[in-house]
Amino acid sequence: MTQPRRTLTGIKPSGELHLGNYLAALKPVLELADSGYEAFCFIANYHAITLPIRAEDLSENTYTHIANWLAFGADKKKGVVFYLQSDIPEIFELTWILSCYTSKGLLDRSHAYKDAISKNKKAVNLGLYAYPVLMAADILAFDTDVVPVGKDQKQHVEIARDIAGAFNFEYKEDVLRLPEPLIRENVKTVPGVDGEKMSKSYNNIIPVFAEPDKIRKLVAKIKTDSSLPGDPKDPGKCIIFSIYKLFAQDSDVEDLRKRYISGGLGWKDAKAL
Ligand code: ADP
Ligand code: TRP
Repeated sequence: MTQPRRTLTGIKPSGELHLGNYLAALKPVLELADSGYEAFCFIANYHAITLPIRAEDLSENTYTHIANWLAFGADKKKGVVFYLQSDIPEIFELTWILSCYTSKGLLDRSHAYKDAISKNKKAVNLGLYAYPVLMAADILAFDTDVVPVGKDQKQHVEIARDIAGAFNFEYKEDVLRLPEPLIRENVKTVPGVDGEKMSKSYNNIIPVFAEPDKIRKLVAKIKTDSSLPGDPKDPGKCIIFSIYKLFAQDSDVEDLRKRYISGGLGWKDAKAL
């Protein structure tokens, strides 16, 4: 009998769970679970401390993320293995072992690390630099085949693959399984209210669970241009349209596209949709 394929993903509890997290990681991993994959889902709480975070916030976010994941169905009833990263000490033991098979050059080339260095060199600690090794341990510890993530994490999954390859090469045996990223084209980079990538670190998120009033206020903050209600608008350049099309039915998206192009739709009305 062939073994079922395995999928795994994690999300940092560094802030509220947002639309980008849900669409790129949480939703696909649970859909794969429904289609017969063995699914492993976890809260990456040790990844969340590579940047400063207050203990109270980390604790509260962690509980909130647990509740959010459970609300979406990440539980045993579905056959999903759901856990807190810090509860599995073997992940941290494996991190050290893998770090001894990771060339420094590989980590030097990480975009996330290079980005952090360019923003504030002094804020880069060893944990942030070694972040991809911990992520490789998360993935390789469970013989993962497929890792659903957003585009920003593609390189980290490739680094996990490279580390596994280096380890296997050393021992001339396929000890570690090589993982593949799964990146859905339409949600690879969900924009935030400012048009940049939606991220807990950029203060531009729309949370998945929040009071309708709070969501309305955040939607009202979505950046638009200075065109008047009567002006025709380019749906391809509009953040409201990009977010709307992630959720609306195809026919509604088409209707809205036509309204943009023909003019007569004000930004306030578009936000109210
Ligand atoms: P954040 O950037 O908000 O801190 P995480 O780093 O915890 O989010 O990311 C958890 C998962 O969500 C990863 O798979 C990541 O690629 C994905 N993700 C985060 N933001 C986005 C986004 N704006 N669009 C698509 N995927 C995203
Ligand atoms: N590094 C991921 C992020 O910031 C979170 C994460 C940690 C992860 N370990 C993982 C995602 C393993 C997928 C697989 O988005």
